[in-house]
Amino acid sequence: MVGELIDLGAKRTRPHKGSVVTDLTTRQLYAANRHLRCATRVLVRVAGFTARTFADLERRLGEVDWSPWLSNEAQPTYRVTSRGSQLRHTGAIEERFAAALGTGHADGPGQLVVVRVSRDRFTISVDSSGAPLHERGWRQATAKAPLRESVAAALLLAAGWDPATPLVDPMCGSGTIPIEAALLAAGRAPGGGRDFAFRRWPCFEPGTWASVTATADSPVAPTPVILGADRDAGAVESARSNAERAGVADLVEFRQAPVSDLEAPGGGPPAVGRTALARWRPAEPLRHARDGGRWAPRRLGPGPARGRPGPRPAGSPRPHRVTPPRPRRSAGHLSDGTALGRQLTTSVAVMSGWRAQK
Ligand SMILES: C[S@@+](CC[C@H](N)C(=O)[O-])C[C@H]1O[C@@H](n2cnc3c(N)ncnc32)[C@H](O)[C@@H]1O
Repeated sequence: MVGELIDLGAKRTRPHKGSVVTDLTTRQLYAANRHLRCATRVLVRVAGFTARTFADLERRLGEVDWSPWLSNEAQPTYRVTSRGSQLRHTGAIEERFAAALGTGHADGPGQLVVVRVSRDRFTISVDSSGAPLHERGWRQATAKAPLRESVAAALLLAAGWDPATPLVDPMCGSGTIPIEAALLAAGRAPGGGRDFAFRRWPCFEPGTWASVTATADSPVAPTPVILGADRDAGAVESARSNAERAGVADLVEFRQAPVSDLEAPGGGPPAVGRTALARWRPAEPLRHARDGGRWAPRRLGPGPARGRPGPRPAGSPRPHRVTPPRPRRSAGHLSDGTALGRQLTTSVAVMSGWRAQK
């Protein structure tokens, strides 16, 4: 995600466990919500102070100017965590916030307020995203155990997938990986079809938002070859309808087939790694295609040793650097920056460098 933020022009990005802290302009904040493929939320810091008693907390809350983010109608909800602090009863902390911020109107917009207390230091943020960013809007049909859209995108970025290279997901379920790959190749904003909480803020700048949404798609490949397959007919149907909603039906082919019968686009066996995301060098499927061979996968062997990326095809983009997975420990870390994204800690590093089995 650091790579994605740098692409958006963020100047100071500091990765933390489960989050990246950065400073964003208003335009960059809007663009981050619309364009980040791997983020879950973008939180904006509102205040930070130390409080060891409820009287201290009430006084400090009275000093905060909430007016840029909360209209009189807005209905705040809270996510409070407290560690190593005098004030550790999160319910009682939330009550103080509710008393200070009010409850809004019954039909007012919801607004998540994230409160983190660590060693008596309060860090207060408002969520600019609304529904989590992996909810792009297109995945309304699901199959078994669907992957989050943001995790699928992170797998592709971490693997350094080059859209000029054919990609197959032989157990695609609802099609999350192929569809995210198609969106990536088409240079389409992942949040292009959804709404965000910041649009209800009193400080919302419609002109700035219009300049963000006016950005055209930036396709990075002529026409990618992307294939999703699954043995389950219902899963394939879900994947197709999801691809339609995502506007990439013309970029992804879906087939109903067990992995043992799967042929590469154009015929012949794709070489495949151990996981559902397979990348193969064009020379290999072409050779097999010439032989007219059917794909009879061998035992699915181990990938290269963890942490040793495979060779990068000439001309393909350098993969974004990915921090190895760590357990998520907190709701996110904030410092003096304006915004942060609370991020996935899913195992993306294992996908990095998977390469075709010979
Ligand atoms: C965990 S789901 C994949 C979820 C998918 N990544 C998504 O986001 O929706 C695993 C899928 O593998 C399919 N599957 C299992 N064994 C298979 C096989 N031998 N050949 C083809 N598909 C298979 C199942 O039908 C199921 O849809």
